[in-house]
Amino acid sequence: MSLSTPIQISENALFDKETDLLPEQAPVARKRHINWVLKAVLPIAAVLLNGLLLFVLVSLSLAEGERHTVIAIATAGAFLICVAVIMVLAVSFRRPMLELQDKIARVRLGDMDASVSFANRNDEVGDLGRDFNDMVAQLKSSREEIQRLHQTQMSRAEHFATLGELATGLAHEIRNPLAGIAGVIEIVGRDLPPNSPARSVIKDAKEEALQINRILTELLDTARPKAPQFRVSDVCATAEHAVMFARQQAITKRIMIELDVTGSIPPVDHDPNQINQVLLNLLLNAIQSMDKPGTIRVLLETDEDDVLITVADEGKGIPPEHLPNIFRPFFTTKGHGTGLGLSLARRTVESHGGHIDVTSEVGKGSRFQIRLPIAREKQAAVSG
Ligand SMILES: Nc1ncnc2c1ncn2[C@@H]1O[C@H](COP(=O)(O)OP(=O)(O)O)[C@@H](O)[C@H]1O
Ligand SMILES: [Mg+2]
Repeated sequence: MSLSTPIQISENALFDKETDLLPEQAPVARKRHINWVLKAVLPIAAVLLNGLLLFVLVSLSLAEGERHTVIAIATAGAFLICVAVIMVLAVSFRRPMLELQDKIARVRLGDMDASVSFANRNDEVGDLGRDFNDMVAQLKSSREEIQRLHQTQMSRAEHFATLGELATGLAHEIRNPLAGIAGVIEIVGRDLPPNSPARSVIKDAKEEALQINRILTELLDTARPKAPQFRVSDVCATAEHAVMFARQQAITKRIMIELDVTGSIPPVDHDPNQINQVLLNLLLNAIQSMDKPGTIRVLLETDEDDVLITVADEGKGIPPEHLPNIFRPFFTTKGHGTGLGLSLARRTVESHGGHIDVTSEVGKGSRFQIRLPIAREKQAAVSG
């Protein structure tokens, strides 16, 4: 049966139990209740019966023959009133309710074109019908939106997968000859006399080779993320390790890196190598964002079931129009940047079941905050 076929409600259905759902519809769990006809008719019948009794009493003064006729007419009238009330209730309420039940069952089965026919009625039942139709229309558009987003995500994921394969293949191809070139530069540099002007060129070439190697390493890490090796260990030690390393980079720019721990931090289930790399990425970005001497603050604290690690710098800040892009792969505003540091950082943090957030003010600095759950939930163990 086509889902768009309008439902036919048989007259018998008016007095049936709640079993008239279509066979393919999933049964709706409903409480057993007293039939509505009884509910509606009993009080009316009681009132009419009382009226009839009163009428009989009053008509006692009439002659025998007249009295019977009058009582018969009154009884027939009472009966007709009862039938009329039942019919009105059946048409006005029972039918729409059955139709509504049917349409709800269809929506539950995924038919988003279901709508009720009584929505054009000019009463409260009509209001109910219009609300229902509006709700289904909204559900339909939300579902279409979700499907569209899903489609986009899928094609984007496919696109990235292809790109990733290409890029990792290329990275491997470049790495070996690059190691050869770096070796040759090293040998040539060693053989040069100490005061040779070519030494500075050799130094530049070495740095460029290192930079290319760094880009390739980050690219390979991004394209083929390793599953975290979780262990419950001291996250302060992980942070200290990253800070120590970053200090060596910061020293020449006269940038201080302070590490503060608020309260006692419990051991955290994490991969120390990966979180160290994340913090190092954040710290290197912070150092690179600062043109003049200043301080970078790293703060560790707990918040309910999470550990928060904040890296706050006094650098140039991130313009609001860049903020939505900074976690995207290959987004960089630096001449020598790879644009992979933050995307890798986010992926790593999320594979730990955590989040990374940023707030920034242009000219004042940026504040990156990592939230890591202290005890990892099972589903968060899946690597991204
Ligand atoms: N602490 C920061 N201060 C200012 N800008 C930042 C900071 N961290 C990241 N950014 C911005 O985000 C971009 C992406 O960062 P990242 O993914 O680490 O790539 P990269 O450092 O190679 O450019 C940077 O190019 C920069 O524009
Ligand atoms: Mg970076």
